[in-house]
Amino acid sequence: MDLLKWGRSPWGEWVLTHVSWNLFWASLFAGILFFVAHASYVFFSAHRKRSPEETDALEAAHPNLPTKIERHNLTARLFHWVMAAAMFTLLFTAFLPVAGYKFPWVTWHWIAGLVLTASILFHIVHATFFLDFWSIWVGPKDIPEFKAEIMRELGHDVPGPKSGKYPLGNRLYHLAQVVTSLSVIATGIFMLKRVRTPFFTRNPYLFSDSTWGVTYVTHGLAGVALVGLVIAHVYFAVRPDKWWITKAMIFGWVTRRQYLEHHEPDRWRVPGGGSAAKPAGRA
Ligand code: HEM
Repeated sequence: MDLLKWGRSPWGEWVLTHVSWNLFWASLFAGILFFVAHASYVFFSAHRKRSPEETDALEAAHPNLPTKIERHNLTARLFHWVMAAAMFTLLFTAFLPVAGYKFPWVTWHWIAGLVLTASILFHIVHATFFLDFWSIWVGPKDIPEFKAEIMRELGHDVPGPKSGKYPLGNRLYHLAQVVTSLSVIATGIFMLKRVRTPFFTRNPYLFSDSTWGVTYVTHGLAGVALVGLVIAHVYFAVRPDKWWITKAMIFGWVTRRQYLEHHEPDRWRVPGGGSAAKPAGRA
């Protein structure tokens, strides 16, 4: 299976031009395969959250917690949904023509691209100065949580930290999104020079043929990776056991019980939480 497409430059050299659209079908297939494999795995594995007794004990230890706990403020939710709309428009405009639905997609595509770029620039400023910036990143500090999560997935009831504001999977997903989205945006901005827009005169000679080739291939690779990533994201958002997280992205809050069942109060501190006392029986 060819992964990349090559063409001849006016000087007769072979240069990269695009990714092969086989990769789009591969990413779509991988996304669907992941969805089927994970759904079957969850069907057979126990769902792991804190036991009712442990959650009761935590509730008793945190009597001042409000009944609703804010998870995403209005600005963060608006960003998420604008970004999602731009992302879907980009995916559909890019890949419907590949799947055989031909239409003039380029204008819609770059407009959505600029909306995505603006929303992500906004998000970077908002998250850096107004949100808890470090809560979404993964690093060596997360190794104990990673080990505990693996053991729980394997069916062992082990002590060990629950997540802070964002579960480990969400943080890893965010990292993958950062890499792919920044690649698709950085390359997309240069590709605007190749198409007609009201902003500047088209200039296909900005780069050499081989540099354009690498730009298009990077854009295409990040784009097809986003197909699989977005399928995985939507799959988790619609799973009934994750609705509490999805609802929080619509309404902004989780209940006190959900907060205590799924999070470590010491790692996601909320107003009224006080200093966390550990429930009986926990390491
Ligand atoms: C989810 C994000 C995105 C996906 C999946 C995506 C996908 C694609 C794909 C598959 C192509 C065709 C590439 C080729 O022919 O080799 C393309 C072209 C293009 N993309 Fe994107 N893209 C995304 C984001 C962006 C962004 C953020 C921008 C601009 C800021 C952008 C601007 C462009 C432009 C201008 C073209 C047309 C190039 C041409 O026809 O010469 N894209 N995109």
